[in-house]
Amino acid sequence: MKLLAILASGSGSNAEKIMEYFQDSDKATIALVGSNKPEAFVLERAKKFDVPTFTFSRKEMDAGLLLEKLQQEKIDWVILAGFLLKIPVELTRAFPDRMVNIHPALLPKYGGKGMYGSHVHEAVKAAGDKETGITIHLVNENYDEGRIVFQASTPLSDSDTPESIAEKVHALEHKHFPEVIASLL
Ligand code: GAR
Repeated sequence: MKLLAILASGSGSNAEKIMEYFQDSDKATIALVGSNKPEAFVLERAKKFDVPTFTFSRKEMDAGLLLEKLQQEKIDWVILAGFLLKIPVELTRAFPDRMVNIHPALLPKYGGKGMYGSHVHEAVKAAGDKETGITIHLVNENYDEGRIVFQASTPLSDSDTPESIAEKVHALEHKHFPEVIASLL
């Protein structure tokens, strides 16, 4: 049985889909949900699934507290599902090819600093792109540049707004992320 930790900073709709997917799995279990935001809704979602939670500040993460916790809990894989802090290098090195992130755009477009959540969808709208999508990738020391393991796209029309783009992207994420994680384990 592989032990997975999910890290998330916000609502956690992806985290919920992942917890649902692995609920009865004999392959993997979600052993921990971690967040840098004590008020993040993802922590409520974790409670619903009886998954233990862990909160930490950026400072504590940078000082090694999160790594210590993941090692203590014998975590095999770290899943970033809307986790918005930059991961310390020591953490990426501790999980080589065992840390996976979801990005709400078709990388390498709309990646890098400041490109998260609604900022991405606003940039896609402003550029007038005819499609957008999701990227699931392994995490290396350069945040959005690890090996891409999966992409899926969705067409856009002129009438799409940043909000409707976000909805389309979330639908793709919910559909694919749990299965892609399962295929990597
Ligand atoms: C997701 O769309 C995810 O791709 C994005 O945050 C959202 C979290 O939604 N991640 C990033 O922007 C990372 N750069 P959720 O909390 O409902 O799962």
